[in-house]
Amino acid sequence: MKQRRVGILTGGGDCPGLNATIRAIAKTVISDYGWEVTGFLDGYYGLIKNEHKELSFSDVSNILSLGGTILGTSNKANPFQYFEPHKENSIDISDAVVENLKKLKIDVLFCIGGDGTLSIANRLSKKFPNIIGVPKTIDNDLLATDQTFGFDTACSFVTEALDRIHSTAQSHHRVMVIEVMGRYAGWIALEGGIAGGGDIILIPEMPFSFEKVVEVVKQRSKKGKRFTIIVAAEGSHPQGSDMIVSEIIKDSPDPIRLGGIGKLVSDHVEKETGHESRVTVLGHLQRGGTPTFFDRILATRYGVAAAKLAEEEKFGRMVALKGTLITDVGLEEATAGLKLVNQDHPLIKAAKSVGTSFGM
Ligand code: F6P
Repeated sequence: MKQRRVGILTGGGDCPGLNATIRAIAKTVISDYGWEVTGFLDGYYGLIKNEHKELSFSDVSNILSLGGTILGTSNKANPFQYFEPHKENSIDISDAVVENLKKLKIDVLFCIGGDGTLSIANRLSKKFPNIIGVPKTIDNDLLATDQTFGFDTACSFVTEALDRIHSTAQSHHRVMVIEVMGRYAGWIALEGGIAGGGDIILIPEMPFSFEKVVEVVKQRSKKGKRFTIIVAAEGSHPQGSDMIVSEIIKDSPDPIRLGGIGKLVSDHVEKETGHESRVTVLGHLQRGGTPTFFDRILATRYGVAAAKLAEEEKFGRMVALKGTLITDVGLEEATAGLKLVNQDHPLIKAAKSVGTSFGM
């Protein structure tokens, strides 16, 4: 077998299962193929600034259950749109990045990331073809795969949070609004919300009506239900209004950060119903900590399959889950858009059947 030297980077927001993937790629290529592994630090910054470290078998042992990423990550560095410190305008330094890869004699680069990281990987593959993508994100919004790792852990955390919120909501007879992440997609709110028994779930794909939300709270109250749990995706918004932007991060490939809808809903409901209301923003807690059983298995399967793609020289592709099988798709196709919740999705129907409102 051809001797190879591979590079691995983790880009975008961290998420549980990144270390399990790094471990799976590195262990497979070292023990099955006898290759060498370099880890690039802090996502694409590692390629830009030439910051990396060698990864031996023992470096990737005992990291399966660790949250975050041993390589560090960043959702800012983009070689095609790089902002030098204190400079206003971005520059394209992708050629320098390719030079760095060549100087380091990297034959294959594994890019583990979400939409932003994989879109950059796709562009980079036009200049450095030997790239393989691995899909990660708690948002589960990647088009070409049924599930990304990190999503199960995030939803499990939301579920536990909702269980805890239930007991305090019940005791105080309050409306409790829980704001969850997910960017432009409502998957975390939908699946975490169903699993945690949310009474109202608000998602970006289904703009809600304040009147309807208020009506549901009042109806519950009339039926003797003295509390209501509302799960609001950070991208959810009332009909006729835009998503609430909490921050613009100029040097990020996706500069918009969302947040604030939970407070808006909570204040409105309290004012219109007279019921006391509180808001809890779960924030980055959803991304931290140890991966669940499901995410460890998925991340391991992705890592092993990605290594196999490299061995078969199937470059410019991303590993993906289709049903129960691991397959692969072209990076171009994988980054062609986002996977959003369809209003006809079976989970929406199931939630409605058990009495959950979507505020419409
Ligand atoms: O994409 C993952 C995610 O956690 C989103 O759900 C959220 O909108 C965003 O990243 C937050 O980004 P940051 O880490 O920059 O706060």
